[in-house]
Amino acid sequence: MPKRSRARLAQQPASEKRAEIIAALLAWYDRQRRVLPWRAEPGRRPDPYVVWLSEIMLQQTTVKAVKPYFETFLRLWPNVAALAKAPREAVMRQWAGLGYYSRARRLHACAQKIVAEYGGAFPRSETALRALPGIGPYTAAAIAAIAFGHKTAAVDGNVERLMARLYAIDAPLPAARPLLKDKAAQLVPAERPGDFAQSLMDLGATLCTPRRPKCASCPLHGFCRAAALGTPETWPRRAPKVQRPRRRGIAFVLRRGDALLLRTRPPLGLLGGMAEFPTTLSREEAYDRERALRDAPLMADYRRLTTPVAHVFTHFSLSLDVFLADVAQQTEAPLGCRWVKAADLDAEALPSLMRKVVAAVTSSGW
Ligand code: ADE
Ligand code: SF4
Repeated sequence: MPKRSRARLAQQPASEKRAEIIAALLAWYDRQRRVLPWRAEPGRRPDPYVVWLSEIMLQQTTVKAVKPYFETFLRLWPNVAALAKAPREAVMRQWAGLGYYSRARRLHACAQKIVAEYGGAFPRSETALRALPGIGPYTAAAIAAIAFGHKTAAVDGNVERLMARLYAIDAPLPAARPLLKDKAAQLVPAERPGDFAQSLMDLGATLCTPRRPKCASCPLHGFCRAAALGTPETWPRRAPKVQRPRRRGIAFVLRRGDALLLRTRPPLGLLGGMAEFPTTLSREEAYDRERALRDAPLMADYRRLTTPVAHVFTHFSLSLDVFLADVAQQTEAPLGCRWVKAADLDAEALPSLMRKVVAAVTSSGW
């Protein structure tokens, strides 16, 4: 078979698959859609004001928390003109408890702008919508699709997760975001784009959840590459966390005959209540070894281990210089410290970091 026709054949199933995915999603939405106060009856388009109000409220907030607020707002201010006329304080008061209060301020400002600039009718284009206070790319697309039937993809975190799983996209977030948006945009149908958008919202909220997705009940199961691979919850991939900040310090290991100097850390905070060799700690940029040496618990003739001890904590990584010294038999332990027989170290609450210090000292032959 010539190459070109084979390529065409290979493309054929892809577009069929797209149509099947859309059909499966819409059929599922028709059966399973959540009944929500801002949703129009099947086959009807909702009021743009209702869509806008609900989408602003739903930013960063769950459907359950939003419902009573949405109903109150709609009762007090049934249209954008009424909301624009409301005193700012009344809007803020009704919003109280919903959080992220800049949303309420922008909501009110947006209502006033729609009245002042558009005679109280929401603009229909995504570009014009995005120019309004509080309306970002996601919200503009959601309003355009749901209220005006525009063929556009409203992509939030839920939709990104769905696309990453459906196509098993291995590129990590956040870099994969444009690709995931593109995948969603390619799926949006010309017919019922608003229902399509809401089917993705419902699927992401009820079945394709971040943890333990319920693939067995999912209308996309037969199309989903992540489900086929068997570990759908591992998508979307994420870029490794930003590097931990680095800290430096000195651990002072003092020996008096067969005993070593230890102290117990304060009960709260890092390694709270654990035992340690007296240790200094500072940010890497601020570390000055000579200055840190002045925090030695005792004056002594110190030598330094050539290799520092490295350790990684949850919130920072640490490199500890280890300074060693022998002190005279009659030396008293400084305030807060105690001499502990080397043979008794195992009975002490020494964290891994300090056990690493013991290992480094032992292997130095000291
Ligand atoms: N989350 C954000 N917008 C939504 C909507 N219109 N329906 C359900 N959940 C949503
Ligand atoms: Fe998500 Fe599973 Fe459905 Fe794939 S099959 S879209 S992973 S719920």
